[in-house]
Amino acid sequence: MRLLVCGGAGFIGSNFVRQRLAEHGDEVTVLDKLTYAGRRENLEGLEVRLVAGGIEDAAAVADAIEGCDAIVNFAAETHVDRSITEPDAFVTTHALGTYVLLEAARERSLRYVQVSTDEVYGSIEDGSFTEQSPLNPSSPYSATKAGADLLVASYRHTFGLEALICRGSNNYGPYQYPEKLIPLMILNALHGDKLPVYGDGMQVRNWIFVEDFARGIGTVLERGEPGEVYNVGGPDEAPNLDVVKGIIRYTGADESLIEYVTDRPGHDRRYSLGSEKVRGLGWEARTRFAEGLERTVSWYRDNRPWWEPIRSGDYRAYYERQYGRALG
Ligand SMILES: NC(=O)c1ccc[n+]([C@@H]2O[C@H](COP(=O)([O-])OP(=O)(O)OC[C@H]3O[C@@H](n4cnc5c(N)ncnc54)[C@H](O)[C@@H]3O)[C@@H](O)[C@H]2O)c1
Repeated sequence: MRLLVCGGAGFIGSNFVRQRLAEHGDEVTVLDKLTYAGRRENLEGLEVRLVAGGIEDAAAVADAIEGCDAIVNFAAETHVDRSITEPDAFVTTHALGTYVLLEAARERSLRYVQVSTDEVYGSIEDGSFTEQSPLNPSSPYSATKAGADLLVASYRHTFGLEALICRGSNNYGPYQYPEKLIPLMILNALHGDKLPVYGDGMQVRNWIFVEDFARGIGTVLERGEPGEVYNVGGPDEAPNLDVVKGIIRYTGADESLIEYVTDRPGHDRRYSLGSEKVRGLGWEARTRFAEGLERTVSWYRDNRPWWEPIRSGDYRAYYERQYGRALG
């Protein structure tokens, strides 16, 4: 396939591109705004055409889309904490950006996959969300992602666009920017820095190894029914505190590094996704959480040149603002 992968220089997008090149021989163009989370380094060694630009920029989209038969859109602002302090970029990218991409897909009759999140369903105490569950987002991040999903669905309904939506649960794995829970805790543990746990640490997430999610998106791209939504959830759930304790075990750090900090406003308690529908397309998660976490710790331990420039750059100021203490 000739794919336009928007946001392909980010965490999940770059894992997806790596997998598609290695396992499917696709031709890939990446369109990416290269925000703090999008890095050329994530695509190092991969044969792709990289167009630097925003999905909200119709000229950049027209340039990048040349010769492609399908679009997979990962481009997003993805950090809930940032959506609370600076929501404007979330609105621009998720609302305007998705609209510009949909128009480009419609003009050219291209297949379109929107990468979305379990957070659009909100929090659930027991059981799991299905694709029929109502949307009930609670942060500016999830609300703008839900808005984008509705717009995608409207392009199917109104214009007959070959559009599909793929909603993933919490991803972890190589190349994730260290503001997110797992890489943040791994790097802090490796440096002997405090491990800041929000609230009581009992927020439960449904963890999926990034390669499994990437494979799920590929499955939906190839075999999904246009107009349908597919949930792609991980095989295991764990409260944040258990995740942090697992990281302490694999890094050899000390539990005394754990520091409970003021909870995030409106922090959702539990996310859980049922993935029966995508299993019907032949997808299955291959990596259990304990194995994936150990592999992720090893990757960060072995890839210092990837994270060192991040941890010594602007990220330090972000971290200090967010947690009220400097990194060591
Ligand atoms: N990380 C998760 O746990 C998770 C779970 C489910 C779904 N998702 C979804 O998967 C997608 C990718 O998430 P991620 O974790 O890889 O995020 P990320 O923050 O690592 O990467 C996002 C990428 O999008 C690019 N980008 C941002 N705004 C852009 C714009 N206007 N135009 C073009 N590119 C732009 C960034 O430069 C970056 O490369 C997102 O849509 C997210 O909502 C993420």
